[in-house]
Amino acid sequence: MRTQVGIVGAGPAGLTLALLLERAGIESVVLEARTREYVEQRVRAGLLEHNTVELLHELDVAQRLDREGLEHGGIYLRHQGKTLHIPMKELTGRRITIYGQQEVVKDLIAALLDRRGELRFEVSDVELSEVETDQPRIRFSADGEGHELECDVIAGCDGFHGVCRRSIPDGALTEREFVYPFSWLGILAEAEPATDELIYSWHEHGFALYSMRSPRVSRLYLQVPNDEPLERWPDERIWEELQMRHASEGWRVNEGPIFEKGVTPMRSFVAEPLRHGRLFLAGDAAHIVPPTGAKGLNLAVNDVRLLAAALVRWYETGSSDGLDAYSERALRRVWRAQDFSNYMTQLLHQLESGGFQQQLQLSRLDYLERSQAAAASLAENYVGLPAEPDF
Ligand code: APR
Ligand code: PHB
Repeated sequence: MRTQVGIVGAGPAGLTLALLLERAGIESVVLEARTREYVEQRVRAGLLEHNTVELLHELDVAQRLDREGLEHGGIYLRHQGKTLHIPMKELTGRRITIYGQQEVVKDLIAALLDRRGELRFEVSDVELSEVETDQPRIRFSADGEGHELECDVIAGCDGFHGVCRRSIPDGALTEREFVYPFSWLGILAEAEPATDELIYSWHEHGFALYSMRSPRVSRLYLQVPNDEPLERWPDERIWEELQMRHASEGWRVNEGPIFEKGVTPMRSFVAEPLRHGRLFLAGDAAHIVPPTGAKGLNLAVNDVRLLAAALVRWYETGSSDGLDAYSERALRRVWRAQDFSNYMTQLLHQLESGGFQQQLQLSRLDYLERSQAAAASLAENYVGLPAEPDF
């Protein structure tokens, strides 16, 4: 088997890349370890930056997003019963859209199959070889048989636990990591959101976030210790803690049946450069942010936007300028998002370091209230800086 671009992983990065290439007449094959149902049901964050929404429009995969996505022009920051509104639209001219990542994935898969893209689910034993040559290969098993896919280049879009990053020899990548001493317990509940915009709450018991998926479904998160067993969090305890951490006079979180519960660890991680020979890494395969800034999907989409443009240029003109610059260009946005996600996390969570840090957090929250420059800085990072040009 032969293709131009072999793509490992059918998450937002791999699927968006396949669609961008298809639009330019470049062939690809996407190989995914899980079933279609699994990737379409996997619950993740659900906040799209303006740039991401624009790209989904450009790819003509935004019809359902336009109907069902919820546009938000601000967020609330709450602490000690006080609520501060950050008017992002006013401060930056841009909005964000709430739309579940698995809904994006469903739309991308449907469009890719509709456009006759080649997408194989349930492949196993994926192994890369000869990535330092002009003909890198991907070996894999599917339907009980071994296969080999010969490519011009390979895109490693297989997430943090994938094989692509690990197939790069020791010493070729620099990995930088920061692991937080807490996790997020996330739920989906059949309950009308009691807020028009997201609420990020600082509380002595720990951080809480009030988000949503639709006018009938709330998405809520609580800071919990690492390795927290879900059995310690029966529904009543979750609601009690949410009511306490989000408390504001004369107002309550709307409760309803919980139909999904999960714990996510918090990590900041970057492996660089995003390239080894003819293998290019994109999305979670190369970098992870804590979910506080909801940047994961947006970074993945930005990476492949730059990678696709570089590949188109290479195929059309023979120039490898774009491919050579890919890593540095994508990492510029990655590190901005790393700093912002770390800032939001350290601003709002209870940290082990205790009293001194707590006073700094309260002072920063007070500064956001008193200074338009501080609020504007948070807002422009939250909605995402304008996209860097393709070259
Ligand atoms: N072979 C084939 N596919 C694999 C392999 C493998 N060895 N290992 C992992 N995969 C698949 C996973 O099953 C998953 O579907 O690669 C895909 C990677 O997708 P994501 O983890 O969604 O990563 P990415 O596309 O980079 O999107 C980043 O996902 O983790 C969230 O919050 C993150 O929103 C961000 C987004
Ligand atoms: C979500 O809706 O899942 C979400 C929103 C904002 C965040 C993180 C997650 O910062």
